[in-house]
Amino acid sequence: MLRNSGRGLIACIIATLLATTEASALPSVFRNTSPRATKLSAEQVGKELIPTLSTTAAVYTSGDPRWANATARWQTWNYPNVQLVIEPGSEADVPKIVKYANSYNVPFYTRATGHGSTKTLGKFTGIEISMTQLRGMTILPGEKTALLQGGVFGKEVIQFMWDRGFMTGTGSCGCVSLLGPGLGGGHGRMQGRHGLILDHFVQLNVVLADGSTTTVSEKSNPDLFWAMRGAGHNFGIVTSFEHKIFPRDGDLWYSKIYTFNSTKLEAFHTALNELAKKQIPEIINWSIYLLDPSVSTTEPVIHWAFEYIGGDANLAKPYLAPFEALKPINSVEQLLTYPQIPVAEGTHAEGSLCEKGDQRMQMNAGLKQYNVTAQRQIFELYKKNIFYDPAIQGSVIVMEGYSIQGVTAVDPASTAYALRDDDLLCAAIIRYHPNPKLDAFAIKWASDTRNIWNAGQPTRKLTTYTNYGFGDESLESQYGYEPWRLTKLRALKKKFDPKNKFSYYNGIN
Ligand SMILES: Cc1cc2nc3c(=O)[nH]c(=O)nc-3n(C[C@H](O)[C@H](O)[C@H](O)COP(=O)(O)OP(=O)(O)OC[C@H]3O[C@@H](n4cnc5c(N)ncnc54)[C@H](O)[C@@H]3O)c2cc1C
Ligand SMILES: *[C@@H]1O[C@H](CO)[C@@H](O)[C@H](O)[C@H]1NC(C)=O
Ligand SMILES: *[C@@H]1O[C@H](CO)[C@@H](O)[C@H](O)[C@H]1NC(C)=O
Ligand SMILES: *[C@@H]1O[C@H](CO)[C@@H](O)[C@H](O)[C@H]1NC(C)=O
Ligand SMILES: *[C@@H]1O[C@H](CO)[C@@H](O)[C@H](O)[C@H]1NC(C)=O
Repeated sequence: MLRNSGRGLIACIIATLLATTEASALPSVFRNTSPRATKLSAEQVGKELIPTLSTTAAVYTSGDPRWANATARWQTWNYPNVQLVIEPGSEADVPKIVKYANSYNVPFYTRATGHGSTKTLGKFTGIEISMTQLRGMTILPGEKTALLQGGVFGKEVIQFMWDRGFMTGTGSCGCVSLLGPGLGGGHGRMQGRHGLILDHFVQLNVVLADGSTTTVSEKSNPDLFWAMRGAGHNFGIVTSFEHKIFPRDGDLWYSKIYTFNSTKLEAFHTALNELAKKQIPEIINWSIYLLDPSVSTTEPVIHWAFEYIGGDANLAKPYLAPFEALKPINSVEQLLTYPQIPVAEGTHAEGSLCEKGDQRMQMNAGLKQYNVTAQRQIFELYKKNIFYDPAIQGSVIVMEGYSIQGVTAVDPASTAYALRDDDLLCAAIIRYHPNPKLDAFAIKWASDTRNIWNAGQPTRKLTTYTNYGFGDESLESQYGYEPWRLTKLRALKKKFDPKNKFSYYNGIN
C-alpha cells in the first residue's frame, strides 16, 4: 500500500557505516565503567566467554560482515550505541552472557529485529545480545500452544503456523519480532478473536538482570508474569515462550484497498465511526494519509485497507456500501491467503514500511472514535508540511482500526497492559534520510499531530502505546493512570531488577 523508492536500503547501509566508524573509534562503554572493563574487546570476549558457550555462539565488532545486519535500525535517530555484538547460539548461552557482562559492569541490550524506535534507546552504549540464532518453533503436544524462541518474527511465524494448519498472534508487519511488540502489548490481525500478542503468552522462559533463569507464568512468578505482559522490556530477556495457537480459520481472506480524495475526509471518518458500531472480530481496517505519486504529486490522499477474515465477499460487502458511496479514486479487491495479506497491504517484511535506515519521528495517540474536526486539522497540517522538503515526503499519518473483542475480553487488571479501553491506534510517522536540519521540524509536526488528536477528545486522559512511543511521554500515559499500576511495577522492578539493567525501553523509574 505504501509505495516508495529503494532509497531506504541505501540509507540503511550509509547509516550502518556511520555507526561502524563511530563505534570502532569510540569504545566509551569500556572507558566509562570499571578499569577492568577498559580492556574488554572482541578478542578478549572470544577467549574468555565464547569457549564456554555453544558452538555457534559468536562475538564480533564493526569489521565483521555480520555487523551490518546485526545493528541495522528502523529508527536511526537516538538508536542504541552498540560496541560489540554477541550472538547466543542456544538459550543456555544467554544467562552466561549476562553474568559475563555484569562481571565487567558493561551494559547489555537484547535485539530481536531492531524496530524499537523510542529515543530512550539512545541512552544505551554497550553489548548487543542478538537473538538472531534463536528462532526455533515447535508445536507442542495437544496442539494448543507452540514453543517459540526469543528471536522469532512475524513473517516466519505466520508461514510456519499456516503451513501446519494454525494461526497465532503476531504483529501485522512481517518484519517485526513477536516479543518486541508482545512485551508491551502487540497489536495484530488476530486480536479481534484472541487478543493482543501478550494475551497469547502461557509461559515465558526468562533470564533476569543478574543472569539467573526462571519460568514466568500464572503459576510461577505470577506477579512478574503480570508485569511482563505490558511492561516486559523492563524485566528480563525472554529466551523462549509458550504461545497459544489456534486452528487455521478459512483458507482465504477478502481484502479491499481504497484510495479516497481528501474532499471525502469528513464523510469517510463519519462512515468509519458508524462502522465501529458494527464491530465484529472478522474485520480489520486501517487508513493512511499519504502523498501517493501514482495518484497525485500535489495533493495527499487517503488510503483505506479493509480485511475480512473468511473469503466470502458477500458477507464483507454490506460493510463496504457506505464507502463505495463515497466514490473512491480507485480500489483493489482480492481474495488472499492469510500469509499473502501483509504483501497486499504493504506490511510485508520486504516493504517500504519495514525498511531500515531512515529516521522516523513517531508519536501516537489512542482514541475511542474519530473527531472529524480534528482529523481535518491533521490532514491540513499534513498537506502543508509534506511539501516542506522533498526528503520528507515518505511521511504518513496512520490510523489503525483493529477489531477489539479479544482485547476487551481480558480483565484489564490482570496484566500490566493498561490501554484495553483504546479502540483506535493513531500515529504520525515523519520519515526522512538522516538530516539534523530536519529534526526540529519533524518533531514539531509529529507533536502537533499528537496534540490535535488529544485536543479532539477533551474528556479522555491521553494514552501512549509504549511500542510506538517517542520517548517523551509520561509513564502514566503508557503504563496506566491508576496509581496501583506504577506502584506495583516499581516494587517489582526493585525486586527483579534493582540495578535497573533493563532501563532503555521507556524504562520505569
Ligand atoms: C515496521 C514496523 C511495524 C510494526 N508493526 C507493529 C504491529 O503490527 N503491532 C505492534 O504492536 N507493534 C508494531 N510495531 C511496533 C513494535 O512493537 C516496536 O517497534 C517493537 O519495539 C519492535 O520490536 P523489535 O524486536 O523489532 O525491536 P528491537 O529493537 O529488536 O527490540 C525492541 C525492544 O524489545 C526488547 N526485546 C526484543 N526481544 C526481546 C526478548 N527476546 N526478550 C526481552 N526483550 C526483548 C528489546 O530489548 C527492546 O527493548 C511496528 C514497528 C515497526 C517499525
Ligand atoms: C543480512 O540480512 C539479509 C536479509 O535478511 C540476508 O539476506 C543476508 O544474507 C544477511 N547478510 C548476512 C551477512 O548475514
Ligand atoms: C479531488 O477532488 C477535487 C474536487 O473534485 C479535484 O479537483 C481533484 O483533482 C481531486 N484530486 C484527486 C487526486 O483526484
Ligand atoms: C474499522 O476501523 C475503525 C477505525 O479506523 C474502527 O473504529 C472500527 O471499529 C473498525 N471496524 C470494524 C468493524 O472492525
Ligand atoms: C473535536 O475536536 C475539536 C477540536 O479540538 C474540539 O473543539 C471538540 O470539542 C471535539 N469534539 C468532541 C465531541 O470532543
